[in-house]
Amino acid sequence: MIALRTEREIGLLREANQIVAEVLTTLAGMVAPGITTLELDEAAEALILERGGKPSFKGYRGYPKSTCISVDEVVVHGIPGKQRIEEGQIVSMDVGVLLRGYHGDAAVTVPCGEIDAVKRRLLDVTDRALANGIAAARAGNFLRDIGRAVQDTCEREGFSVVRSFVGHGIGTQMHEEPQIPNFDSGERGPRLRPGMVLAIEPMVNVGGPDVRVLKDGWTAVTKDGQPSAHFEHSVVVTEDAPEILSAAPNLIWGRL
Ligand code: MF3
Ligand code: CO
Repeated sequence: MIALRTEREIGLLREANQIVAEVLTTLAGMVAPGITTLELDEAAEALILERGGKPSFKGYRGYPKSTCISVDEVVVHGIPGKQRIEEGQIVSMDVGVLLRGYHGDAAVTVPCGEIDAVKRRLLDVTDRALANGIAAARAGNFLRDIGRAVQDTCEREGFSVVRSFVGHGIGTQMHEEPQIPNFDSGERGPRLRPGMVLAIEPMVNVGGPDVRVLKDGWTAVTKDGQPSAHFEHSVVVTEDAPEILSAAPNLIWGRL
């Protein structure tokens, strides 16, 4: 059963997601050579609490921090810690906020200083893949249309889409039905209807699609060690174009 949210619930989801957007915008402005991923996490947690929210990730299945910070070949679920970010790296930042019973969830990948041409294209293509996936999230379309749009955008550019993590419905739980693959799973899936709230989150690799999880049980890295990018928005399907609840107009990357 995929929940159809009321106007009131969508208002609450928008509020939670707008805190996420503010946090991501703040973190993006802090990324610079020498900063640690833990410093970014602590800034995020402080801002979330200041806004009256709770970090959705902390304690989720034992996850220890408030954000996921995933650098270069880390695909997702990088645990903030002592690692210092360096010039030339790409930094994915994923934030979840629980506010008055409803969750917000979004992620963006930003460059630290000057990055090489391949990484720049990876960020650009992954951001565009998310935009095209969102554009496919229209009432009357099928779930499959989202994954197809994301996959086409990435593979046309010679990049690959990660299979072992997917997007998700979001609402009173951070992870709700349906699962949202970033590729064509071969199944049409449910028809999209107004009021469905979806977290669409392509993870895109320069090399092959395969990932492995480190011994910490969380950190997912590309098997071939090549860079990976991740963008995520929470959106609501409407009678018209989808509304991006986590829209962050002041973010340079992932500005939707
Ligand atoms: N945005 C990610 C997701 O939807 C983040 C989850 S991290 C976790 O799965 F720690 F909370 F699992
Ligand atoms: Co998510």
